[in-house]
Amino acid sequence: MRKNLISIGLLSCLLWSCTSSTSAPDDAATSTTTSSTASTAQTSGTSASAGGGAGGSNAGGSGSTSAGGGETNEGGGGGTDSATSGGTGGAGTGGADTGTGGMPDEGPKNLAEKYASLFPIGAAVDSQSYMTHAALLKTHFNSITAENEMKFESLQRNENSFTYDAADRIVSFAVTNKMKVRGHALVWHSQNPAWLFSNGSGGTVSRQTLLTRMKNHISNVVRHFRGKVYAWDVVNEAMMEDGSYRTGNLADGQKSRWHEILGESYIAEAFKAAHEADPDAKLFYNDFYNYIPAKQQGIYNMLKGLLDQGVPVHGVGLQAHLNIEPSAVTTNQAYHQNVANMEEAIKLYSSLGLDVQVTELDISLYIPGVTYNQSTFYTTATFTDALKAKQAARYREFFELFRKYKSVITGVTFWGIADDNTWLSEFSSGRKDFPLLFDLNHNPKPAYDAVVRF
Ligand code: G3I
Repeated sequence: MRKNLISIGLLSCLLWSCTSSTSAPDDAATSTTTSSTASTAQTSGTSASAGGGAGGSNAGGSGSTSAGGGETNEGGGGGTDSATSGGTGGAGTGGADTGTGGMPDEGPKNLAEKYASLFPIGAAVDSQSYMTHAALLKTHFNSITAENEMKFESLQRNENSFTYDAADRIVSFAVTNKMKVRGHALVWHSQNPAWLFSNGSGGTVSRQTLLTRMKNHISNVVRHFRGKVYAWDVVNEAMMEDGSYRTGNLADGQKSRWHEILGESYIAEAFKAAHEADPDAKLFYNDFYNYIPAKQQGIYNMLKGLLDQGVPVHGVGLQAHLNIEPSAVTTNQAYHQNVANMEEAIKLYSSLGLDVQVTELDISLYIPGVTYNQSTFYTTATFTDALKAKQAARYREFFELFRKYKSVITGVTFWGIADDNTWLSEFSSGRKDFPLLFDLNHNPKPAYDAVVRF
Protein backbone atom coordinates (compact mmCIF):
# COMPACT_ATOMS: atom_id res chain seq x y z
CA MET A 1 0.00 0.00 0.00
CA ARG A 2 1.24 3.45 -0.77
CA LYS A 3 2.45 5.28 2.23
CA ASN A 4 -0.18 7.53 3.47
CA LEU A 5 0.46 10.99 4.26
CA ILE A 6 3.77 12.33 4.64
CA SER A 7 4.99 15.63 5.91
CA ILE A 8 8.24 16.41 4.36
CA GLY A 9 10.43 19.40 4.77
CA LEU A 10 11.90 19.10 1.40
CA LEU A 11 8.59 18.50 -0.11
CA SER A 12 7.19 21.49 1.59
CA CYS A 13 9.90 23.61 0.12
CA LEU A 14 9.32 22.12 -3.22
CA LEU A 15 5.63 22.19 -3.03
CA TRP A 16 5.27 25.46 -1.32
CA SER A 17 7.60 27.29 -3.58
CA CYS A 18 10.39 28.32 -1.36
CA THR A 19 12.06 31.39 -2.63
CA SER A 20 15.04 32.01 -0.45
CA SER A 21 18.48 30.97 -1.44
CA THR A 22 18.67 28.75 1.59
CA SER A 23 15.78 26.61 0.47
CA ALA A 24 13.85 27.46 3.57
CA PRO A 25 10.18 27.02 2.96
CA ASP A 26 8.71 30.46 2.91
CA ASP A 27 5.10 29.87 2.30
CA ALA A 28 3.20 31.51 5.04
CA ALA A 29 0.29 29.22 4.52
CA THR A 30 2.15 26.09 5.51
CA SER A 31 1.89 24.76 8.99
CA THR A 32 4.42 23.01 11.14
CA THR A 33 3.15 19.56 11.78
CA THR A 34 6.24 17.51 11.38
CA SER A 35 7.18 14.85 13.80
CA SER A 36 10.51 13.25 13.50
CA THR A 37 11.12 9.57 13.59
CA ALA A 38 13.69 8.19 15.94
CA SER A 39 15.57 6.59 13.17
CA THR A 40 16.09 9.59 11.01
CA ALA A 41 18.87 12.04 11.42
CA GLN A 42 17.18 15.05 10.02
CA THR A 43 13.75 16.35 10.56
CA SER A 44 11.90 18.68 8.38
CA GLY A 45 10.59 22.01 9.43
CA THR A 46 7.30 22.30 7.75
CA SER A 47 4.76 20.07 6.28
CA ALA A 48 2.52 20.38 3.36
CA SER A 49 -0.81 21.59 4.54
CA ALA A 50 -3.85 23.22 3.22
CA GLY A 51 -2.98 26.42 1.65
CA GLY A 52 0.47 26.39 0.20
CA GLY A 53 1.44 27.24 -3.27
CA ALA A 54 2.35 24.25 -5.23
CA GLY A 55 5.65 23.06 -6.12
CA GLY A 56 8.44 24.05 -8.23
CA SER A 57 11.08 21.51 -8.25
CA ASN A 58 12.36 19.67 -5.33
CA ALA A 59 14.08 21.42 -2.57
CA GLY A 60 15.94 19.01 -0.55
CA GLY A 61 15.35 16.21 1.79
CA SER A 62 13.36 15.15 4.65
CA GLY A 63 13.60 12.00 6.54
CA SER A 64 10.65 12.84 8.64
CA THR A 65 7.24 11.38 8.80
CA SER A 66 4.07 12.89 9.93
CA ALA A 67 1.89 11.49 12.60
CA GLY A 68 -1.25 12.78 11.08
CA GLY A 69 -3.07 11.76 8.04
CA GLY A 70 -4.72 8.74 6.78
CA GLU A 71 -4.74 9.56 3.16
CA THR A 72 -5.20 6.48 1.11
CA ASN A 73 -4.32 5.91 -2.42
CA GLU A 74 -6.55 4.05 -4.77
CA GLY A 75 -3.83 2.44 -6.74
CA GLY A 76 -1.53 1.22 -4.09
CA GLY A 77 -3.51 -1.44 -2.34
CA GLY A 78 -3.55 -5.11 -2.53
CA GLY A 79 -0.01 -6.03 -3.23
CA THR A 80 1.48 -8.56 -0.89
CA ASP A 81 5.05 -7.58 -1.62
CA SER A 82 5.86 -11.23 -1.63
CA ALA A 83 7.17 -11.59 -5.12
CA THR A 84 10.69 -12.78 -5.15
CA SER A 85 11.26 -13.18 -8.78
CA GLY A 86 9.02 -10.44 -10.05
CA GLY A 87 7.80 -10.28 -13.54
CA THR A 88 4.47 -11.81 -12.94
CA GLY A 89 3.15 -9.26 -10.51
CA GLY A 90 0.75 -6.78 -11.93
CA ALA A 91 -2.91 -7.07 -11.80
CA GLY A 92 -2.77 -10.61 -10.58
CA THR A 93 -0.90 -10.05 -7.39
CA GLY A 94 -1.58 -6.44 -6.80
CA GLY A 95 -5.28 -6.53 -7.32
CA ALA A 96 -5.31 -2.84 -8.07
CA ASP A 97 -4.19 -2.66 -11.61
CA THR A 98 -7.54 -1.48 -12.72
CA GLY A 99 -6.50 -0.07 -16.02
CA THR A 100 -5.74 -1.64 -19.29
CA GLY A 101 -2.05 -0.93 -19.26
CA GLY A 102 -3.53 1.20 -21.71
CA MET A 103 -3.27 2.19 -25.19
CA PRO A 104 -4.90 5.09 -26.93
CA ASP A 105 -7.22 4.04 -29.74
CA GLU A 106 -4.57 4.68 -32.30
CA GLY A 107 -1.04 5.82 -32.43
CA PRO A 108 2.15 4.43 -30.99
CA LYS A 109 1.76 1.20 -29.12
CA ASN A 110 3.91 2.03 -26.20
CA LEU A 111 6.17 4.63 -24.79
CA ALA A 112 9.43 2.72 -24.44
CA GLU A 113 9.10 1.27 -27.92
CA LYS A 114 8.43 4.68 -29.40
CA TYR A 115 11.58 6.01 -27.75
CA ALA A 116 13.69 2.91 -28.28
CA SER A 117 16.04 4.60 -30.71
CA LEU A 118 16.33 7.72 -28.55
CA PHE A 119 16.70 6.81 -24.89
CA PRO A 120 15.30 4.45 -22.26
CA ILE A 121 12.06 5.49 -20.56
CA GLY A 122 11.99 4.88 -16.84
CA ALA A 123 9.64 5.06 -13.88
CA ALA A 124 10.21 5.30 -10.16
CA VAL A 125 8.58 2.42 -8.34
CA ASP A 126 8.05 1.52 -4.71
CA SER A 127 7.80 -1.79 -2.93
CA GLN A 128 4.17 -2.13 -3.97
CA SER A 129 3.81 -0.28 -7.24
CA TYR A 130 6.12 -2.53 -9.18
CA MET A 131 3.42 -5.15 -8.60
CA THR A 132 0.23 -3.09 -8.59
CA HIS A 133 1.32 -1.25 -11.71
CA ALA A 134 3.14 -4.11 -13.37
CA ALA A 135 1.02 -4.08 -16.50
CA LEU A 136 1.81 -0.45 -17.18
CA LEU A 137 5.46 -0.93 -16.35
CA LYS A 138 5.87 -3.89 -18.62
CA THR A 139 4.06 -2.19 -21.47
CA HIS A 140 5.53 1.28 -21.41
CA PHE A 141 8.81 1.39 -19.50
CA ASN A 142 12.20 -0.20 -19.91
CA SER A 143 13.99 1.32 -16.93
CA ILE A 144 13.22 1.45 -13.21
CA THR A 145 14.36 3.49 -10.25
CA ALA A 146 13.52 2.55 -6.66
CA GLU A 147 11.80 5.61 -5.24
CA ASN A 148 13.01 5.07 -1.67
CA GLU A 149 14.22 1.50 -1.29
CA MET A 150 17.89 2.15 -2.12
CA LYS A 151 18.31 5.22 0.06
CA PHE A 152 20.71 5.10 3.01
CA GLU A 153 18.10 4.65 5.71
CA SER A 154 16.40 1.92 3.71
CA LEU A 155 19.54 -0.13 3.18
CA GLN A 156 21.51 0.48 6.37
CA ARG A 157 19.05 1.50 9.08
CA ASN A 158 21.44 0.11 11.69
CA GLU A 159 25.18 0.31 11.37
CA ASN A 160 26.67 -2.49 9.31
CA SER A 161 23.35 -4.25 9.02
CA PHE A 162 22.32 -4.06 5.38
CA THR A 163 18.74 -4.79 4.40
CA TYR A 164 18.39 -5.48 0.73
CA ASP A 165 15.11 -7.40 0.56
CA ALA A 166 12.80 -4.67 -0.72
CA ALA A 167 15.33 -3.33 -3.21
CA ASP A 168 16.22 -6.83 -4.38
CA ARG A 169 12.59 -7.58 -5.19
CA ILE A 170 12.40 -4.47 -7.35
CA VAL A 171 15.66 -5.28 -9.09
CA SER A 172 14.51 -8.83 -9.64
CA PHE A 173 11.32 -7.58 -11.28
CA ALA A 174 13.41 -5.36 -13.55
CA VAL A 175 15.82 -8.12 -14.47
CA THR A 176 13.00 -10.54 -15.23
CA ASN A 177 11.42 -7.95 -17.47
CA LYS A 178 14.66 -6.88 -19.10
CA MET A 179 14.50 -3.38 -17.69
CA LYS A 180 17.47 -1.25 -16.80
CA VAL A 181 17.86 -0.19 -13.16
CA ARG A 182 19.05 3.21 -11.95
CA GLY A 183 20.29 3.26 -8.37
CA HIS A 184 19.07 6.15 -6.21
CA ALA A 185 20.79 7.51 -4.12
CA LEU A 186 24.04 6.79 -2.32
CA VAL A 187 24.83 10.08 -0.59
CA TRP A 188 22.09 12.58 0.20
CA HIS A 189 21.40 14.99 3.03
CA SER A 190 18.02 13.40 3.54
CA GLN A 191 16.69 10.00 4.58
CA ASN A 192 19.71 9.04 6.63
CA PRO A 193 19.62 6.98 9.82
CA ALA A 194 20.35 8.83 13.08
CA TRP A 195 23.42 6.74 13.91
CA LEU A 196 25.22 7.89 10.78
CA PHE A 197 26.20 11.32 12.04
CA SER A 198 26.44 10.39 15.71
CA ASN A 199 29.48 9.30 17.75
CA GLY A 200 27.23 7.13 19.90
CA SER A 201 27.73 9.31 22.97
CA GLY A 202 25.45 12.13 22.08
CA GLY A 203 28.02 13.98 20.03
CA THR A 204 28.84 14.37 16.37
CA VAL A 205 30.77 11.68 14.58
CA SER A 206 34.40 12.42 13.77
CA ARG A 207 35.43 13.32 10.27
CA GLN A 208 37.41 10.13 9.80
CA THR A 209 34.66 7.87 11.08
CA LEU A 210 32.04 9.48 8.87
CA LEU A 211 34.28 9.13 5.84
CA THR A 212 34.78 5.45 6.67
CA ARG A 213 31.03 4.98 7.12
CA MET A 214 30.29 6.65 3.82
CA LYS A 215 32.82 4.56 1.92
CA ASN A 216 31.67 1.39 3.63
CA HIS A 217 28.06 2.09 2.66
CA ILE A 218 28.89 2.87 -0.93
CA SER A 219 31.17 -0.12 -1.26
CA ASN A 220 28.69 -2.56 0.21
CA VAL A 221 25.68 -1.26 -1.72
CA VAL A 222 27.33 -0.81 -5.10
CA ARG A 223 28.96 -4.24 -4.92
CA HIS A 224 25.66 -5.81 -3.93
CA PHE A 225 23.95 -4.50 -7.05
CA ARG A 226 26.93 -4.77 -9.36
CA GLY A 227 25.93 -6.02 -12.80
CA LYS A 228 22.27 -5.20 -12.16
CA VAL A 229 22.26 -1.48 -11.47
CA TYR A 230 23.81 0.21 -14.46
CA ALA A 231 23.81 3.78 -13.15
CA TRP A 232 23.94 5.37 -9.72
CA ASP A 233 22.92 8.73 -8.38
CA VAL A 234 26.07 8.89 -6.31
CA VAL A 235 25.55 12.32 -4.81
CA ASN A 236 22.12 13.89 -4.65
CA GLU A 237 21.25 17.56 -4.19
CA ALA A 238 24.58 18.93 -2.97
CA MET A 239 24.12 22.39 -4.45
CA MET A 240 21.89 25.34 -3.65
CA GLU A 241 19.92 27.49 -6.05
CA ASP A 242 22.45 30.34 -5.85
CA GLY A 243 25.17 27.99 -7.03
CA SER A 244 26.82 27.51 -3.64
CA TYR A 245 27.29 24.21 -1.84
CA ARG A 246 24.58 22.90 0.44
CA THR A 247 26.24 23.25 3.82
CA GLY A 248 25.47 22.55 7.44
CA ASN A 249 24.28 26.11 7.94
CA LEU A 250 20.70 25.44 6.98
CA ALA A 251 17.55 24.38 8.71
CA ASP A 252 17.06 20.79 9.68
CA GLY A 253 15.79 18.88 6.71
CA GLN A 254 17.70 21.17 4.39
CA LYS A 255 21.22 21.11 5.81
CA SER A 256 23.90 18.74 4.65
CA ARG A 257 25.63 17.04 7.53
CA TRP A 258 27.95 15.48 4.96
CA HIS A 259 29.25 18.90 4.04
CA GLU A 260 29.18 20.11 7.63
CA ILE A 261 31.43 17.29 8.82
CA LEU A 262 33.48 16.40 5.75
CA GLY A 263 33.51 19.58 3.71
CA GLU A 264 32.97 19.53 -0.04
CA SER A 265 35.52 16.75 -0.50
CA TYR A 266 32.81 14.23 0.42
CA ILE A 267 31.54 14.53 -3.16
CA ALA A 268 34.78 13.44 -4.78
CA GLU A 269 35.27 10.70 -2.19
CA ALA A 270 31.81 9.33 -2.87
CA PHE A 271 32.37 9.10 -6.62
CA LYS A 272 35.75 7.44 -6.15
CA ALA A 273 34.30 4.86 -3.78
CA ALA A 274 31.46 4.06 -6.17
CA HIS A 275 33.83 3.67 -9.08
CA GLU A 276 36.04 1.38 -7.09
CA ALA A 277 33.06 -0.79 -6.16
CA ASP A 278 31.78 -1.06 -9.73
CA PRO A 279 34.04 0.30 -12.47
CA ASP A 280 31.33 -0.40 -15.05
CA ALA A 281 28.59 1.63 -13.40
CA LYS A 282 27.69 5.05 -14.78
CA LEU A 283 28.02 7.55 -11.97
CA PHE A 284 25.70 10.54 -11.80
CA TYR A 285 25.40 13.76 -9.89
CA ASN A 286 21.66 14.35 -9.44
CA ASP A 287 19.89 17.60 -8.54
CA PHE A 288 16.79 19.77 -8.99
CA TYR A 289 16.23 23.35 -10.19
CA ASN A 290 18.68 22.89 -13.03
CA TYR A 291 16.72 25.53 -14.91
CA ILE A 292 17.91 28.26 -12.55
CA PRO A 293 20.91 29.90 -14.25
CA ALA A 294 22.91 30.42 -11.04
CA LYS A 295 22.37 26.85 -9.92
CA GLN A 296 23.23 25.28 -13.26
CA GLN A 297 26.43 27.32 -13.32
CA GLY A 298 27.27 26.23 -9.79
CA ILE A 299 26.71 22.59 -10.69
CA TYR A 300 28.79 23.04 -13.83
CA ASN A 301 31.65 24.56 -11.84
CA MET A 302 31.51 21.79 -9.27
CA LEU A 303 31.49 19.06 -11.93
CA LYS A 304 34.26 20.69 -13.91
CA GLY A 305 36.37 20.81 -10.77
CA LEU A 306 35.76 17.12 -10.15
CA LEU A 307 36.58 16.17 -13.72
CA ASP A 308 39.72 18.29 -13.65
CA GLN A 309 40.86 16.31 -10.62
CA GLY A 310 40.15 13.05 -12.44
CA VAL A 311 37.15 12.13 -10.31
CA PRO A 312 35.02 9.49 -12.08
CA VAL A 313 31.79 11.36 -12.81
CA HIS A 314 29.93 10.23 -15.91
CA GLY A 315 26.65 12.08 -15.96
CA VAL A 316 24.26 14.62 -14.54
CA GLY A 317 20.70 13.89 -13.49
CA LEU A 318 18.10 16.59 -14.02
CA GLN A 319 15.32 15.78 -11.58
CA ALA A 320 12.71 17.83 -13.47
CA HIS A 321 9.88 18.10 -10.98
CA LEU A 322 8.06 20.58 -13.15
CA ASN A 323 4.81 22.52 -13.04
CA ILE A 324 2.08 23.17 -15.50
CA GLU A 325 3.43 26.68 -15.91
CA PRO A 326 6.35 28.65 -14.51
CA SER A 327 5.83 30.85 -11.50
CA ALA A 328 4.88 34.44 -12.22
CA VAL A 329 6.69 35.51 -9.08
CA THR A 330 10.14 36.75 -10.04
CA THR A 331 11.69 35.67 -6.74
CA ASN A 332 10.33 32.14 -7.01
CA GLN A 333 12.70 29.44 -8.25
CA ALA A 334 10.12 28.21 -10.70
CA TYR A 335 10.04 31.62 -12.35
CA HIS A 336 12.98 30.22 -14.33
CA GLN A 337 11.21 26.99 -15.19
CA ASN A 338 11.14 27.05 -18.95
CA VAL A 339 12.47 25.02 -21.85
CA ALA A 340 15.15 27.54 -22.77
CA ASN A 341 16.69 27.43 -19.31
CA MET A 342 16.55 23.64 -19.23
CA GLU A 343 18.23 23.59 -22.61
CA GLU A 344 21.04 25.75 -21.23
CA ALA A 345 21.61 23.22 -18.47
CA ILE A 346 21.78 20.36 -20.96
CA LYS A 347 24.21 22.28 -23.15
CA LEU A 348 26.38 23.30 -20.24
CA TYR A 349 26.67 19.86 -18.68
CA SER A 350 27.13 18.01 -21.94
CA SER A 351 29.91 20.45 -22.89
CA LEU A 352 31.88 18.69 -20.15
CA GLY A 353 31.46 15.42 -22.00
CA LEU A 354 28.94 14.18 -19.45
CA ASP A 355 25.80 12.19 -20.14
CA VAL A 356 22.56 13.87 -19.16
CA GLN A 357 19.56 12.00 -17.81
CA VAL A 358 16.16 13.30 -16.81
CA THR A 359 15.76 11.39 -13.57
CA GLU A 360 12.57 12.42 -11.76
CA LEU A 361 10.13 13.87 -14.23
CA ASP A 362 6.61 14.89 -13.32
CA ILE A 363 4.44 17.91 -14.10
CA SER A 364 2.35 19.15 -11.21
CA LEU A 365 -0.92 20.97 -11.83
CA TYR A 366 -0.09 23.50 -9.16
CA ILE A 367 1.66 26.75 -10.01
CA PRO A 368 4.44 27.82 -7.66
CA GLY A 369 3.73 31.11 -5.97
CA VAL A 370 -0.03 30.69 -6.19
CA THR A 371 -1.83 30.01 -2.92
CA TYR A 372 -4.14 27.02 -2.86
CA ASN A 373 -6.49 25.76 -0.19
CA GLN A 374 -8.93 22.93 0.27
CA SER A 375 -11.41 24.55 -2.05
CA THR A 376 -8.91 25.01 -4.86
CA PHE A 377 -7.05 21.74 -4.58
CA TYR A 378 -7.55 19.78 -7.76
CA THR A 379 -9.86 16.81 -7.86
CA THR A 380 -10.78 14.47 -10.69
CA ALA A 381 -13.71 16.82 -11.31
CA THR A 382 -11.60 19.96 -11.58
CA PHE A 383 -8.85 18.33 -13.57
CA THR A 384 -10.72 19.43 -16.65
CA ASP A 385 -10.10 18.62 -20.29
CA ALA A 386 -8.62 22.08 -20.72
CA LEU A 387 -6.19 21.48 -17.91
CA LYS A 388 -5.31 18.07 -19.30
CA ALA A 389 -4.56 19.70 -22.63
CA LYS A 390 -2.43 22.32 -20.92
CA GLN A 391 -0.45 19.67 -19.08
CA ALA A 392 -0.05 17.77 -22.34
CA ALA A 393 1.34 20.86 -24.04
CA ARG A 394 3.85 21.32 -21.23
CA TYR A 395 4.94 17.69 -21.55
CA ARG A 396 5.17 18.10 -25.34
CA GLU A 397 7.52 21.08 -25.18
CA PHE A 398 9.87 19.41 -22.73
CA PHE A 399 9.94 16.16 -24.68
CA GLU A 400 10.70 18.10 -27.85
CA LEU A 401 13.72 19.41 -26.00
CA PHE A 402 14.74 15.96 -24.78
CA ARG A 403 14.49 14.54 -28.29
CA LYS A 404 16.55 17.41 -29.65
CA TYR A 405 19.34 16.37 -27.31
CA LYS A 406 19.03 12.64 -27.90
CA SER A 407 22.78 12.42 -28.49
CA VAL A 408 23.55 13.39 -24.91
CA ILE A 409 20.38 12.35 -23.08
CA THR A 410 20.75 8.72 -22.09
CA GLY A 411 17.52 8.26 -20.15
CA VAL A 412 14.26 9.90 -19.14
CA THR A 413 12.63 8.64 -15.95
CA PHE A 414 9.24 9.64 -14.56
CA TRP A 415 8.92 9.94 -10.80
CA GLY A 416 6.06 7.49 -10.60
CA ILE A 417 3.97 5.50 -13.01
CA ALA A 418 0.38 6.71 -12.84
CA ASP A 419 -1.54 9.43 -11.03
CA ASP A 420 -2.78 7.05 -8.35
CA ASN A 421 0.74 6.68 -7.00
CA THR A 422 2.66 9.93 -6.82
CA TRP A 423 4.69 11.54 -4.07
CA LEU A 424 2.93 14.80 -4.98
CA SER A 425 -0.30 13.52 -3.46
CA GLU A 426 1.26 12.33 -0.22
CA PHE A 427 0.04 15.13 1.96
CA SER A 428 -1.94 15.40 5.12
CA SER A 429 -3.76 18.31 3.55
CA GLY A 430 -5.45 15.86 1.26
CA ARG A 431 -4.13 17.75 -1.71
CA LYS A 432 -4.12 15.60 -4.80
CA ASP A 433 -2.02 16.04 -7.87
CA PHE A 434 -2.18 14.45 -11.30
CA PRO A 435 1.36 14.80 -12.63
CA LEU A 436 2.04 11.72 -14.74
CA LEU A 437 1.15 10.30 -18.16
CA PHE A 438 -1.37 7.74 -16.91
CA ASP A 439 -4.52 8.46 -14.94
CA LEU A 440 -5.95 7.01 -11.74
CA ASN A 441 -7.20 3.99 -13.67
CA HIS A 442 -3.91 3.57 -15.48
CA ASN A 443 -5.27 4.79 -18.78
CA PRO A 444 -3.20 7.14 -20.94
CA LYS A 445 -3.91 10.84 -20.55
CA PRO A 446 -3.61 13.52 -23.23
CA ALA A 447 -0.09 14.02 -21.87
CA TYR A 448 0.73 10.50 -23.01
CA ASP A 449 -0.38 11.29 -26.54
CA ALA A 450 1.64 14.49 -26.50
CA VAL A 451 4.76 12.53 -25.66
CA VAL A 452 4.35 9.67 -28.11
CA ARG A 453 2.98 11.50 -31.16
CA PHE A 454 5.85 13.06 -33.01
O1 G3I B 1 9.42 4.21 5.53
C1 G3I B 1 8.45 4.92 6.28
C2 G3I B 1 7.43 3.97 6.79
O2 G3I B 1 8.03 3.10 7.69
C3 G3I B 1 6.31 4.77 7.43
O3 G3I B 1 5.28 3.90 7.81
C4 G3I B 1 5.75 5.80 6.46
C5 G3I B 1 4.68 6.67 7.10
O4 G3I B 1 4.31 7.72 6.26
O5 G3I B 1 6.78 6.63 6.03
C6 G3I B 1 7.80 5.92 5.37
O6 G3I B 1 8.81 6.73 4.94
C7 G3I B 1 8.47 7.65 3.94
C8 G3I B 1 9.21 7.28 2.67
O7 G3I B 1 8.93 8.24 1.67
C9 G3I B 1 8.83 5.91 2.16
O8 G3I B 1 7.49 5.84 1.92
C10 G3I B 1 8.92 9.02 4.38
O9 G3I B 1 8.13 9.42 5.47
C11 G3I B 1 8.79 10.02 3.27
O10 G3I B 1 9.43 11.22 3.67
C12 G3I B 1 9.43 9.52 2.01
O11 G3I B 1 9.17 10.46 1.00
C13 G3I B 1 10.00 10.33 -0.11
C14 G3I B 1 10.91 11.54 -0.22
O12 G3I B 1 11.73 11.42 -1.37
C15 G3I B 1 11.80 11.69 0.99
O13 G3I B 1 12.40 12.89 0.99
C16 G3I B 1 9.15 10.23 -1.36
O14 G3I B 1 8.38 9.03 -1.33
C17 G3I B 1 10.04 10.23 -2.58
O15 G3I B 1 9.26 10.32 -3.75
C18 G3I B 1 10.96 11.44 -2.54
O16 G3I B 1 11.81 11.35 -3.64
C19 G3I B 1 12.71 12.44 -3.81
C20 G3I B 1 13.99 11.90 -4.39
O17 G3I B 1 14.49 10.86 -3.60
C21 G3I B 1 15.03 13.00 -4.55
N1 G3I B 1 14.50 14.10 -5.33
C22 G3I B 1 13.23 14.62 -4.87
C23 G3I B 1 12.18 13.52 -4.76
C24 G3I B 1 10.85 14.07 -4.36
O18 G3I B 1 10.90 14.67 -3.11
